[in-house]
Amino acid sequence: MPETQLTAIVERRSNKLFGLNALVTGSSRGIGRAIARSLGAHGANVAVHCRQGVDEAQSLALELSAAGSRAMVVCGDLAKEIQARRVAEEVLGAFSGIDILINNAGITRDKSFLKMTRDQWQDVVETNLNSLYSLTQAVLPQMTQRGWGRIINISSVVGQMGAFGQTNYAAAKAGIIGFTKALARETAARGVTVNAVAPGYIETAMTAAIPPDVKAKIVETIPAKRFGAPEEVAEACLFLASREAAYITGAVINVNGGVYL
Ligand code: CAA
Repeated sequence: MPETQLTAIVERRSNKLFGLNALVTGSSRGIGRAIARSLGAHGANVAVHCRQGVDEAQSLALELSAAGSRAMVVCGDLAKEIQARRVAEEVLGAFSGIDILINNAGITRDKSFLKMTRDQWQDVVETNLNSLYSLTQAVLPQMTQRGWGRIINISSVVGQMGAFGQTNYAAAKAGIIGFTKALARETAARGVTVNAVAPGYIETAMTAAIPPDVKAKIVETIPAKRFGAPEEVAEACLFLASREAAYITGAVINVNGGVYL
């Protein structure tokens, strides 16, 4: 993406989300970081969650505070239900409510299926899918009580079309789509929308680990002929989180350069 275009996205500010409290999981880096920055830039109070990257999370929280948002850092391993619930409770206590929950945290443990260990399967499913159970259970009741909420789950194009070496990741990311649609039906009449964003291949540390030969082949298959920027995923989340997106629920927004149509 041309540098000037990207700068324009990052620097655009508004009070669109003023007064709303957001928790973005896995926001010390990558796509989550871009989402947290974007929500903060549009007036939301933001809880930056990390598992290990406390320094990065704190630097982002400082940046958001300097720009006028209320920001906090919360740490915990979301694969562990007790920690996931504590993360939610810390934010609920500090912000007295969560209006926007972005379930973004995710990991890969790529291996062709016959070589995949039970641990590689389990780690990915616990972190990428089961954490949605724990966090959403903790956050949803106060949203339905207030009659307003936005839950945005970060799936992946891999959950829609599969990928070599990613049976664990594809299963979890496809599971997120089913979860999103089912929960959307349960909460639509109570003012809470539930949507998924399915990024394609985005320039992050996760995709930087793809072997170069595999990466070159993937780029060839993308109609846009490039990987996406995290900020391009954040734009979709910003819209779904807004008051204006009230009538959109159960949707899956693809941000993938056309790799899956
Ligand atoms: N397509 C077809 N064949 C492939 C292949 C591919 N992408 N990758 C490996 N193979 C073949 C190998 O050439 C090998 O064939 P031979 O036995 O004939 O030599 C066979 O499969 C087994 O290869 P390995 O022993 O290397 O397999 P492995 O179990 O160690 O797994 C891998 C290799 C980890 C899958 C590696 O290929 C890899 O890292 N691939 C990239 C996976 C990927 O795309 N990850 C995306 C991360 S980004 C992300 O997930 C974000 C998102 O949401 C999009």
